[in-house]
Amino acid sequence: MFDLKASTYLQTHSSNESQLLAKLRRETELKCLNPIMLSGEFQGNFLSIISKIKKPKNVLEIGTYTGYSTICLAEGLDKKGTIHTIDKNEELIEIQNKYFELSNYRNQIKQYTGEALKIIPSMKLNFDLIFLDADKENYSNYLKKVSPLLNKGGILISDNVLWHGKVLDENRNYDKTTKLIDEFNKNIIKDKSLQSIMLPLRDGISVSVKL
Ligand SMILES: C[S@@+](CC[C@H](N)C(=O)[O-])C[C@H]1O[C@@H](n2cnc3c(N)ncnc32)[C@H](O)[C@@H]1O
Repeated sequence: MFDLKASTYLQTHSSNESQLLAKLRRETELKCLNPIMLSGEFQGNFLSIISKIKKPKNVLEIGTYTGYSTICLAEGLDKKGTIHTIDKNEELIEIQNKYFELSNYRNQIKQYTGEALKIIPSMKLNFDLIFLDADKENYSNYLKKVSPLLNKGGILISDNVLWHGKVLDENRNYDKTTKLIDEFNKNIIKDKSLQSIMLPLRDGISVSVKL
């Protein structure tokens, strides 16, 4: 959401991604469809810092893709912590496994393949940190499902809440996905169990804490 000059300055004055994450990012760009979906260096750094502050025991990630954000979130895990990450696309498992093996967190990452809305209740777990980054049309459904699963003081991070700026259309000439993201942005504020802030980071990111 910042102009190129400001974005470059912000990036230049933030820590660099690890060599492993840079390699995963490049392989995703070369081999995978829609590499723009990957969190990337700046947002990945943000996820890693939040996780390091929180030191979570249980993390839920909805939308693994090639595992870039999974590794970033794993960086702050408690020694006995686990990140549970869900993606419906089984073709991504090979690249995920390659980089999870190369990371320090292989034994702390549990992958689930399938529809997130079906898998989440079957986990029977509560979470200290949740990263919502799958199908935007279901964001409000995910919110209903995961808000009760957040421990007190737990953090929910929701990606793409500006939806390429489309939610900003003053005439609200929204397509279906934009309408549903706008609804989600209103629903997150209505959830009085959460304190939320929307940040202009990349495509917009909401950070909520369970009260
Ligand atoms: C934006 S990408 C995730 C990017 C990843 N979190 C990162 O930052 O590198 C979204 C992922 O959600 C997955 N996805 C979409 N709809 C889903 C659903 N209903 N259940 C589970 N996964 C889904 C897609 O297959 C895709 O890999």
